[in-house]
Amino acid sequence: MRILSGIQPSGALHLGNYFGMMRPAIELQDKGEAFYFIADYHSMTSLFDPRQRRQNTIDVALDFLACGLDPKKSTFWIQSHLPEVAELTWLLSTVTPMGLLERCHSFKDKSAKGIPVNHGLFAYPVLMAADILLFDSNIVPVGRDQKQHVEVTRDIAIKFNEAYGQTFVIPEPQIRTDVAAVPGLDGQKMSKSYGNTIEIFGDEKATRKKIMSIVMDSRTPAEPKPDANQNLAIQLLKLVAPVEVANDFEERLRTGGLGYGDLKKALFEHYWIHFTVARAKRAELVGNLDYVRQVLGEGAEHARSIASDVLIRAKAASGLG
Ligand code: ADP
Ligand code: TRP
Repeated sequence: MRILSGIQPSGALHLGNYFGMMRPAIELQDKGEAFYFIADYHSMTSLFDPRQRRQNTIDVALDFLACGLDPKKSTFWIQSHLPEVAELTWLLSTVTPMGLLERCHSFKDKSAKGIPVNHGLFAYPVLMAADILLFDSNIVPVGRDQKQHVEVTRDIAIKFNEAYGQTFVIPEPQIRTDVAAVPGLDGQKMSKSYGNTIEIFGDEKATRKKIMSIVMDSRTPAEPKPDANQNLAIQLLKLVAPVEVANDFEERLRTGGLGYGDLKKALFEHYWIHFTVARAKRAELVGNLDYVRQVLGEGAEHARSIASDVLIRAKAASGLG
């Protein structure tokens, strides 16, 4: 079974990225042949600062390796190090109906908000299809917001197969329902674009401040709160604390007697403990960037050996070369 996923280097990674995509992806590296990459081509649709892109790319590599991506088990590389992706994107774009892309929320939402959209953003799902189809991927672990893109990939693969004969494997999205949408500091989905994130490797003081500033309602600590399971801090605590600890806090909130300040303090402490090992590992990797570059270099080489064969298959099927 081939498992593949990617993440854009568009800023510091947060708990939504971690629980929604990275952790499931890391767990899956024991379940099949895993392929993970940093989608720097995709980041070009919305980030126009080259220094920032370079820095973010290395930061994502550090974050992923620190969180448990094991290069002995998974192939890990930078998307643009495989030019095959750009070439396959063209082939796929010619069988992609415009209407399919017009319906994609990545493009539709921005355009509805009046944000100027470029062709790259419109064609973004085709590039994503090339990423996935180049590896005969079976499973694509992503957060819920990427499901539509994997469905578009399936449609594109079917269209190509219909036009040129059986060429591509049809992939399946895999979305963990328990962490499909991690809430952010304001209760909306956690996202860089909403400015409501808790970074995985945030600075201690700044992150404590962010968590302590979560706005709650004005009920007194003594009041019982029958809706304790809806509480934002409880929902986040369930992700970072052992289950019995989170359940105990939820129960105390439900019956009354627990103040929001104490709850938020516990959330910060458990968040901090949750990533202690990864934080140490990251610090070690920062001191050994040559190793990180070597992992990405070897990953690209292995990924390319597979992708180039699939590209040759697609070109032969469509009468190129
Ligand atoms: P952002 O919304 O912060 O820009 P991305 O779109 O770059 O995040 O998402 C990278 C990966 O993390 C995707 O697989 C996405 O589905 C997942 N992800 C992002 N935010 C969340 C969230 N709040 N809950 C669950 N998964 C998320
Ligand atoms: N579009 C994805 C995101 O923003 C990243 C991505 C690019 C991806 N190519 C992919 C994810 C292929 C899964 C498979 O999160």
